[in-house]
Amino acid sequence: MLRHLLLSAGIALFAASAEESAPASSDVAAAKGRAEAAATTLQRTLLAELEAAIAAGGPANAVEVCRDVAQRHSKELSESEGLVIRRTALRTRNPVNAPDAFEREFLESAEAGIRSGKQPTTKIEVVGTGGRGRELRMLRPLVFPGGICSQCHGTADEISPEVRAILAERYPDDRATGFRPGDLRGALSVRVPLAAEATP
Ligand code: HEC
Repeated sequence: MLRHLLLSAGIALFAASAEESAPASSDVAAAKGRAEAAATTLQRTLLAELEAAIAAGGPANAVEVCRDVAQRHSKELSESEGLVIRRTALRTRNPVNAPDAFEREFLESAEAGIRSGKQPTTKIEVVGTGGRGRELRMLRPLVFPGGICSQCHGTADEISPEVRAILAERYPDDRATGFRPGDLRGALSVRVPLAAEATP
């Protein structure tokens, strides 16, 4: 049910870093493909596990699953694909998902866009990592679809007392409730290392 919403692809923008010459465009294209594929895999896997956990034991059971599953899948996928993938948001449930400066800037501008009626789109940029290192960064916005997500991130009346109790215990700093369909929930963030720039 949610799949079409969650997987609706944004328009990819590409902006090479201005000061340094861009790496071979084929490297960038390959990295972009890997970033998109990893983001889609993580999104699909988490949704499938969430649906299965809710079907098996309701949302209270799924909170337990979610906690380990999201972090574990992100880590495993990062290791197997040779990149770094994570979920981030301005209002986080787990503080480890807090955005870095690059992610924050994207999230703030996406949120401002939504307020003025503009759908956020995927951002892709090549950035320097210090020295001659560089990486491709991709941010895919997650617009809140409502539906099952509301059982754990929705308004107070959408979250059962049982789930609220578990969230309060596990996530004392939880700021990830009160979302309504169409709000910016967060983003999938992927970093793909690129080959170092060849010495001239
Ligand atoms: C069963 C409860 C539950 C449901 C349903 C649920 N989530 Fe979450 N969500 C969590 C938990 C728990 C975390 C914290 C995971 C962690 O520790 O990284 C979380 C974290 C997140 C994060 C990472 C940022 C943060 O707040 O830490 C995003 C993004 C997110 N959820 C989006 C969604 C979306 C979109 C849906 C609907 C497909 C959804 N969630 C459904 C429980 C849930």
